[in-house]
Amino acid sequence: MRITVIGTGYLGVTHAACLAELGFEVMALDVDTEKVAALASGRVPFYEPGLEELLGEQLAAGRLAFTTDYEELAAWAGPGAVHFVCVGTPQQRGEYAADLTYIDSAFDSLARAVAPHGPCLLVGKSTVPVGTAGRLATRIAELAPEAELAWNPEFLREGFAVQDTLRPDRLVIGVRSEAAERRLREVYARLLAAEVPLVVTDFSTSELVKVSANSFLAVKISFINAMAEVCEAAGADVMQLAEALSHDPRIGGRYLVPGLGFGGGCLPKDIRAFMARAGELGVDQALAFLKEVDAINMRRRARTVDLAREQCDGSLLGKRVAVWGAAFKPNSDDIRDSPALNVAASIHLQGAQVTVYDPKATDNARKMFPTLTYADSALEAAHHADVILHLTEWQEFRDLDPAVVAGHVRDTRVIDSRNALDAAKWRAAGWTYRALGRP
Ligand code: UDX
Repeated sequence: MRITVIGTGYLGVTHAACLAELGFEVMALDVDTEKVAALASGRVPFYEPGLEELLGEQLAAGRLAFTTDYEELAAWAGPGAVHFVCVGTPQQRGEYAADLTYIDSAFDSLARAVAPHGPCLLVGKSTVPVGTAGRLATRIAELAPEAELAWNPEFLREGFAVQDTLRPDRLVIGVRSEAAERRLREVYARLLAAEVPLVVTDFSTSELVKVSANSFLAVKISFINAMAEVCEAAGADVMQLAEALSHDPRIGGRYLVPGLGFGGGCLPKDIRAFMARAGELGVDQALAFLKEVDAINMRRRARTVDLAREQCDGSLLGKRVAVWGAAFKPNSDDIRDSPALNVAASIHLQGAQVTVYDPKATDNARKMFPTLTYADSALEAAHHADVILHLTEWQEFRDLDPAVVAGHVRDTRVIDSRNALDAAKWRAAGWTYRALGRP
């Protein structure tokens, strides 16, 4: 069985390399020629721990190839192949709904290309509004009558993409025939042998699993951040509150870390697209709470800006602010909807001179926010700063000695928006330490 992967973003490259690692011959396609050239020469165009090594191994083993040509891909794959579609579904400009242009065009091109090559299985992995698979199945039946569609959402986290793909918590497949289920069981045989739970269901349920999982995670994060707001007003400590809650196994401590809230290419846009779809289905009330989840999340950014202004004696005008972190989370260079950069840009707009440092995301940040200043190290960013904002919790920042940092700044004031620095250590070194949700 040959396998192809359409789209070489975080999801596609990881999926292609992991399927090659599982022993399949894999060809991946992207319409971006530069990206394909980089990948074919063993370079991953984004930062994901362990992925470049895996790509190199699979290229060397001859199990992985890249192309920009659908015809070449379909001819190479031949009859009986499984084709995974992993293209992005970003938020539409100025709207809540997802932009389905890429996924529609990928399935169209793929279906036309595979049509002359006999029966095959097309599998959607992208996060889509419920109902998309059903609509695509109708289109595929017109363009490639021998091709069948299945839906197989992906739950990987950036920063853990390889391990989440090779050892997922569960596999979910939406199918319309036993043949499709059998085929996907063959693809994932090694994971199933390792007792990864499998849920076999219909198209709509499989599409919904993904967005409801992301909604639940967003709810958990915003819940604890709402508690942080209350703690701030009441003089309580949200970190101790979260710890006490986490000991209850019904609640659990994961995704209960209070701080600057969620960002990235998935959680924010997925909950918005989910609300938009619920509106189309006439059940917008069922998801009205997600609007509040989104609002709580955005308020953490505003609160950080307010706290920075407070720490700068009421005005940011002319102040030097060091921002530690630009990626939406550590171990990633992804800056999509990054809370850190959102805060940095707001503070800059209020007249501060903002210097940003991130271990991996500086290049991406510079392209998107060229008016901010960038430093090559955390200490360089802190040089003569009136306040330091810790906005993405890289280990590198936790490892810094606050006494050494104190020698670089104008004023020893730090705001730990991720609740990740050692407060006692910073205070002992003479810092005014402020965090979200703590006295
Ligand atoms: C998420 C889902 O976890 C994954 O299953 C899905 O496939 C894609 O979306 P990802 O966007 O890579 O993955 O990041 P994740 O690690 O889930 O973190 C999301 C955001 O929430 C980050 O900005 C992170 O900083 C924030 N977060 C997470 C918190 O603020 N508090 C927490 O307790 C956990």
